[in-house]
Amino acid sequence: MMLHLTTCADDLDIAVNLLRAGKLVALPTETVYGLAADATSAGAVRAIFHAKGRPADHPLIVHIAAAEQLPVWADQVPEAAWRLASAFWPGPLTLVLPVAPAVSPLLTGGQATIALRVPAHPVFQAVLRRFGRGLAAPSANPFGRISPTTAAHVQRHLAGRIAAVVDGGPCPVGIESTIVDLSGDQPRILRPGAITIGDLARYLTRVEASAMAAPRVPGTLASHYAPRTPCYRIPPDLPEAPFAGQRLGLLATRPVNWPVAKFWPMSANPEDYARVLYSTLHQADASDCDVLLIALPPDEPAWTAVHDRIRRATRSLLMEAGRVGH
Ligand code: TXA
Ligand code: MG
Repeated sequence: MMLHLTTCADDLDIAVNLLRAGKLVALPTETVYGLAADATSAGAVRAIFHAKGRPADHPLIVHIAAAEQLPVWADQVPEAAWRLASAFWPGPLTLVLPVAPAVSPLLTGGQATIALRVPAHPVFQAVLRRFGRGLAAPSANPFGRISPTTAAHVQRHLAGRIAAVVDGGPCPVGIESTIVDLSGDQPRILRPGAITIGDLARYLTRVEASAMAAPRVPGTLASHYAPRTPCYRIPPDLPEAPFAGQRLGLLATRPVNWPVAKFWPMSANPEDYARVLYSTLHQADASDCDVLLIALPPDEPAWTAVHDRIRRATRSLLMEAGRVGH
């Protein structure tokens, strides 16, 4: 049975005691719900991989209460890391740094680097401070599925596999943190997020910022964050309905000229769009639509993170049409 905890002090004590006992507790962060476990316990970290069905070579983010704890986990903390930490922590930024020698390879997938983040959510912060050590926490979804932004999403997908969820309401950012790799010659964005390349460039030297101009997304799986219902991205001005005879669900900032069974109006503001993207996908996936369509937002820098998540959740309609010979 999974406990459904509130954010009152007594419930947070229960959450901390479960974590001390090596159990898994889903906690709200400002980005998405995280599946937290004691980062210093091999058994607890193994349990994360088991509960998510996540391959062992996918490294985890260790969440810490404050930047002062960076040297516990990272071998060398470059000047750029301190600068980004003081500008954006606590907040939706993850730093990848050379890993300290004593850190378990379970956390890093055997790589020479470790991902670290100081989350801003008051509930996650309160638990970290009471717990006193680092918490490993991937997004609290089964591997390959949409990340959870409410306790109900966690409940639906992980009940029976974890000890508890703390219900802190919907996550205010709605998509996962920006990941910046500072372990190489140049800072590199590995995953775009609410903190944009423009935000980062203000705190990195010109050389570092120009090297980031063409961020290389790591070789992650093509279908990540995917709903179970077939899901396609479409140009916003698609002139006619694809998939004749199917019940179509559409996520778009504007209605289209052809009939759809369900329309989820999306915001024209990228932050507002990101906040509800996953919860809308969870809803759409649970609806009776046969096919989901997402109209692509403008191809502009402010939309980079949303574009990234839409690409991972969908297949390209045009490529699919080509493949089936339409
Ligand atoms: O917003 C977030 O970052 C959320 C909340 C819960 O904090 N967490 C999250 O964790 O998104 P997860 O495990 O779903 O995604 C972590 C990403 C993975 O794509 C993983 O490959 C990458 O971080 N990562 C972790 N350690 C890494 C490393 N040493 N080098 C490169 N990438 C790493
Ligand atoms: Mg994830």
